[in-house]
Amino acid sequence: MAFSKFLSKQVTEIKPSGIRRFFDLAAEMDDVLSLSIGEPDFPTPLPFCEAAAKACAAGDTHYSANYGMIELRQEISKYQKDLIGVEYDPKTEILVTVGGSEAVDITCRACLEPGDEFLIPEPAFVAYAPCALLQNAVPVAIPTTIEEGFKLTADKLRQYITPKTKMLLINSPCNPTGAVMDKESLEEVAKLCIEHDLLVISDEIYAELIYGTKHYSIAACPGMRERTVVISGASKAFAMTGWRLGYLAAPVELLSGIAKIHQFALMCSPTPSQHAALEAFKNGREEVDKMVHEYARRREVIVRGLREMGLEICEPQGAFYAFPSIKSTGLSDEEFCERLLQEEHVAVVPGSAFGESGRGFIRISYAASMDTIHQALEKMAHFVASLKQ
Ligand SMILES: Cc1ncc(COP(=O)(O)O)c(C=O)c1O
Repeated sequence: MAFSKFLSKQVTEIKPSGIRRFFDLAAEMDDVLSLSIGEPDFPTPLPFCEAAAKACAAGDTHYSANYGMIELRQEISKYQKDLIGVEYDPKTEILVTVGGSEAVDITCRACLEPGDEFLIPEPAFVAYAPCALLQNAVPVAIPTTIEEGFKLTADKLRQYITPKTKMLLINSPCNPTGAVMDKESLEEVAKLCIEHDLLVISDEIYAELIYGTKHYSIAACPGMRERTVVISGASKAFAMTGWRLGYLAAPVELLSGIAKIHQFALMCSPTPSQHAALEAFKNGREEVDKMVHEYARRREVIVRGLREMGLEICEPQGAFYAFPSIKSTGLSDEEFCERLLQEEHVAVVPGSAFGESGRGFIRISYAASMDTIHQALEKMAHFVASLKQ
């Protein structure tokens, strides 16, 4: 049967994620040391799990309000105010979603129309471009370089704005590069967004995982609150990826539109997860600090280890990824990753999975134990040295 006729053209044309391919390859092998994972290796802190269990035992296993439990939205609103200094009305300006992933998807669905251009600084998280393509919109990559610290500048952005540009993506701290945009650069970018009447999706899912610098949100720049949709969630900071709990914060006029899709497609985020997240946003700061402290130690070990191998790296300031160049080895990023996996049983992700400007780089996740990191670095050093001989 010709099943292809049943699938839409947009779905058929979307390529599967390059990350998945490497997971599948690694899954077929024994004793792989994985530095490829995009999620915390820590278990969800017990008090968050207990809050969910308690709510379930008490019978709260029903649908919640479409926007999410009001107590949770109130807590998220306070949390956001502390984190980025912007206030959102918990009744109308916060929407609890099924992970940050849903938040990205429904924002694209609600805002993009066929032909609209969506600017995405690259290397970038794999979901943004497909979400635009599903709307028949046009994802436009803005390449950033290691020399620029993988940060978007207003000068670069200006070159990519056309009369069709509708939306800009900002992801700071960035997956996969770990780059963090500073306040001044964000303000410059913000001025251009206002001048050209652009909407911004600010994916701040890694906002708490930051080292030696401070997180700023473009929503806090003058004149930007009304044209920014902030995306975040519990997955990364609270080690809650499997709970599927994210949120959107945006002005009521925008959020009420986006919420229509959530209402029909998802109804609400899982209620037990909302209870766990309520505990996390209310009392979880200490748990986050402990994890950030550990990520910071691992980051130092990784950066030092990669430099000792002679690989060029721009020091990551956030998230839990390092993004070194492997161009000096003479291999492509894909060859490098495949051979490293096959010869040394170490899994990392080719940079080209995050767009053309990631070609020649690899993404290394330090959401892995210190022991795994030490062993993997040793094997990687052996591999790199063997290539240089
Ligand atoms: C930049 C970025 N945004 C959003 C997400 C989605 O996270 P979740 O759907 O688990 O909240 C991820 C997950 O890896 C990510 O790296």
